[in-house]
Amino acid sequence: MTFPPLGTAKEDLDTPALCIDLDALEANLAQAAALCRQHGVAWRPHAKCHKSPDIARRLLEVGAIGLTCAKLGEAEVFAAAGISDLLVANLVAGPRKVERLVALRRKADPIICIDHIEQARPISRAMQAAGLRVRALIDIDIGMQRTGVAPGKPALELAKQVTELPGIELAGVMGYEGHLLLIEDQGEKAARICAALAQLVETKERLVAAGIACPIVSCGGTGSLPFAAQQPGITELQAGGVIFMDAFYRHKCRLEGFRYALTIVSTVVSRPASDRAIIDAGRKTMNMELHLPLVMDREDVQVLRLSAEHGILTLGPAARDLKIGDRLEFVPGYADFTTVLHNHFYVLQSGRLVDIWPLTARGRVD
Ligand SMILES: Cc1ncc(COP(=O)(O)O)c(C=O)c1O
Repeated sequence: MTFPPLGTAKEDLDTPALCIDLDALEANLAQAAALCRQHGVAWRPHAKCHKSPDIARRLLEVGAIGLTCAKLGEAEVFAAAGISDLLVANLVAGPRKVERLVALRRKADPIICIDHIEQARPISRAMQAAGLRVRALIDIDIGMQRTGVAPGKPALELAKQVTELPGIELAGVMGYEGHLLLIEDQGEKAARICAALAQLVETKERLVAAGIACPIVSCGGTGSLPFAAQQPGITELQAGGVIFMDAFYRHKCRLEGFRYALTIVSTVVSRPASDRAIIDAGRKTMNMELHLPLVMDREDVQVLRLSAEHGILTLGPAARDLKIGDRLEFVPGYADFTTVLHNHFYVLQSGRLVDIWPLTARGRVD
């Protein structure tokens, strides 16, 4: 693929184009970092939404202590880019994965998660054989019913077993309150998140009372960021998607105060009816699972549905003059599921292309 030269105007980019507004991105980075600082909690932003070493470096520059990764493969990419402090907020299981974890440990200082002793034993053996130690968090189910050992006594029992294994250094606990993001009433949302996260902190206290060091208490997503940041006893937050903001976070999670930094620029390719336009961006370009994409600056145009390579728009009376070749810009429904459809971000400032950042960890679901 031939890239457009730097300096190209946004309106001259071929479409569909995944664009970052650099000023908005930097404002979001600064705001999220300031929020964490204000509450005395460290920020280890999830990298699954951007998969980009260029963005990762900017996050570290504004004060992130490291990154959270969804998979070992993502962590390998960031380690290769020189980033060492990487939480793999997932379980590592299977001999090939354990081999890769050892290789990763030689280059970086990852933290893995454990919710069962059967994940820990092979990792312990492999680390010991390699003369290495890897940090681990006990993954605790605080109500999401995905992964995680139950809080309290079961977590303590697992922690005790893990501390007896050579090659693993127990570094703390983590949990994710992802089941509480959509609660509409903000008072109820605050109370439920507080109760869920309190289970993490109480479990940490049990571990400490049993003589087990537990320096890290990690949680937090973008959809719960303001609440998780205020929770006493939490030491670090994993919120990542906040750097882009999107329709899901704004309208379903009701997160306020961050700018839309990620957009899709597309072209009208057909006008089959006066109230319908078709664009060159469908489901293989943007995502509609959690929220439909929003049309920027045009309330008279709405996404009706997406097929694979076509976006079907409904036009209000004021938009009937939309023509083939006109361009529209969209805020993704959910940035996380949108970015991974693309190979690179076009980075724009004042409407001009200033950089192109590859999504180097795209496809690293391994
Ligand atoms: C373990 C974990 N932490 C944090 C998050 C929050 O990520 P984000 O802030 O990008 O929504 C997620 C989202 O899926 C997650 O699975």
